[in-house]
Amino acid sequence: MSNVIQNNIPVIAIDGPSASGKGTVAQLAASRLGFHYLDSGALYRIVAWATQQRNIAWDDAIAVTECAKTLIIEFINEQVFLNNTDISNEIRTEAIGKGASQVAVHAPLRAALLDMQHGFCRAPGLVADGRDMGTVVFPNAELKIFLTAKTETRAQRRYQQLLAKNQVSLDFSNTYGSILQDLLERDARDKNRASAPLTLADDAILLETDNLSISAAVDNVLYNFQQKISK
Ligand code: DC
Repeated sequence: MSNVIQNNIPVIAIDGPSASGKGTVAQLAASRLGFHYLDSGALYRIVAWATQQRNIAWDDAIAVTECAKTLIIEFINEQVFLNNTDISNEIRTEAIGKGASQVAVHAPLRAALLDMQHGFCRAPGLVADGRDMGTVVFPNAELKIFLTAKTETRAQRRYQQLLAKNQVSLDFSNTYGSILQDLLERDARDKNRASAPLTLADDAILLETDNLSISAAVDNVLYNFQQKISK
């Protein structure tokens, strides 16, 4: 396994529920440190999108896993390519987020994606975000952060993100309600699945972002990382 024990490459694992801000915080922390960045959620989103295109049911563990093994996935700058096609926008919809959470329950799929995730661990270091970065994929990470916020705060953020992308109507009561409902369902599925559920690792630092700006959260991650590596 590629992790800090095996190759001395430092890993910062940032886990947390949907819309907790972990993607933004992880990306900014990686860029401040000059580290590589792994958006592990994008992998599950790509699988959800690719299987949907091929009419494979998201609850068919074997077919989903076999399909995933055939995919050629590349991250170039902030774009995501599947078999040489840019699908960065396609995988960011709410429907695909929901599908990602559904395919992510399959243990064989999670196992099939492990090597690819370990491959992101290259010098000078890695910031990885997801649900199981600190618990399963990089259990020896130098620093583990669990980033979270109240469900209502996360739903508001998701609503603002989707509005900025013209993916919701301006009728707040309708769309906010359905976003909140989707988040609750996604949280429940991600926390309660048998394989690599979303959970706070024993050695993770809990960071609640309801009243924390993005830059304060990034500073907190970097401060804790400095503390860890100076020991
Ligand atoms: O972080 P995200 O919203 O893009 O993730 C989409 C879904 O993928 C999430 O609801 C659960 C799944 N996922 C996972 O099971 N493990 C990860 N490490 C990352 C994401």
